[in-house]
Amino acid sequence: MAVLEILKYPHPTLKKRSKEVERIDGGIKRLIHDMTETMYGANGIGLAACQIGVPQRVIVLDVSAIDPQHSFFAMINPEIISQEGEIDHEEGCLSVPDCFDKVKRKEKICVRGISPEGKEMEIAGEGILAFALQHEIDHLNGILILDRLSYLKREIYRNKLKKEKRSVRLDSEKEEKP
Ligand code: NI
Repeated sequence: MAVLEILKYPHPTLKKRSKEVERIDGGIKRLIHDMTETMYGANGIGLAACQIGVPQRVIVLDVSAIDPQHSFFAMINPEIISQEGEIDHEEGCLSVPDCFDKVKRKEKICVRGISPEGKEMEIAGEGILAFALQHEIDHLNGILILDRLSYLKREIYRNKLKKEKRSVRLDSEKEEKP
């Protein structure tokens, strides 16, 4: 097991649609272990495989810090089979640092997928469980919270990022010329 680096926007892997898992083998189990360690290591409540550079449809979730009635689970090939209501939910993402904003989400959803043991599983919920599931399934489809913000807010974030990169570059240039 290992804590791996989490890819950050604008890494191209985050923009790709992840592929369905066709066979649950040792590699997938190892992937789930690594994702779990990486999620806890970053104090996250969810992680998608593409965030550690593996474009396969696998997510891990643990929202118990916010809603203790739910515990950790991993899901392979998750698919939303029903949803209802709409609500603005403020969220952030480990791949989009320093961006917290309201995102439109469904209030309640039901998701079907496969457990790490290869059994069909269904999870239905509302609140943070529903929001986190939608957020991670978005990742599998190459969608980041930035894509769900208004054009203006997205541009503000992009410009802030460019400015930060520029100042990091300027700092390193200064170091090269003592
Ligand atoms: Ni995220």
